[in-house]
Amino acid sequence: MKPVRFPDGFRLSSLSSAHPRREFDCGEALVNDWLWTKALQSQEKHLSTSKILVDPDKKIAGYYTLAVGQIDFSDLPRDVARKLPRRALPVALLAWLGVSLGHQGLGLGTRLVAQSLGDCHEAGQTFAFVGVILDCVSDAAKSFYQQWDFAELPGNPYRLILSAKRLAAMMHK
Ligand SMILES: CC(C)(COP(=O)(O)OP(=O)(O)OC[C@H]1O[C@@H](n2cnc3c(N)ncnc32)[C@H](O)[C@@H]1OP(=O)(O)O)[C@@H](O)C(=O)NCCC(=O)NCCS
Repeated sequence: MKPVRFPDGFRLSSLSSAHPRREFDCGEALVNDWLWTKALQSQEKHLSTSKILVDPDKKIAGYYTLAVGQIDFSDLPRDVARKLPRRALPVALLAWLGVSLGHQGLGLGTRLVAQSLGDCHEAGQTFAFVGVILDCVSDAAKSFYQQWDFAELPGNPYRLILSAKRLAAMMHK
């Protein structure tokens, strides 16, 4: 995959207290609330990291949050589970992602997903995981993510996984 390029004047950086988090509105209350009240605290506790995309006016255009987690072998789709040990397995979590209402429809969400998957792949060279998991907050979010190679977890249609194998194939395209 080619390196992700954001439009001129947009910059991606790690979340800090200097970012105007309260002004962010992507239209999904849960996704807003995470950034407004929880993302920084979670980062300071080393539970997750968030990257913030700011526009040329220093407003938050979008963000994503990554974390690590575990999934039980029995919860994986059969093709992902094949040849893996029958126990809890490490996963990367694309925990949250949003683009502000004023910046939607410009391709920024696509770029943020690509960047977040690139971050996961790079981290996976050091800390291995079997796939990237995400939870969809809505049907709209699910159809957005299904543009990539994410598959549903059996019995959990709003939880999707992109296997590390597919991720690697995407990155080497
Ligand atoms: C989902 C979201 C991140 C998309 O961001 P965006 O910057 O508007 O997306 P893009 O401009 O990159 O759109 C890329 C493609 O996805 C499609 N798309 C965008 N939002 C979509 C949606 N909700 N459902 C289906 N397809 C969608 C676009 O039509 C576009 O397709 P095209 O390239 O063929 O025109 C944004 O709408 C958002 O923040 N929503 C609220 C929060 C949310 O649902 N987050 C995800 C779960 S945590």
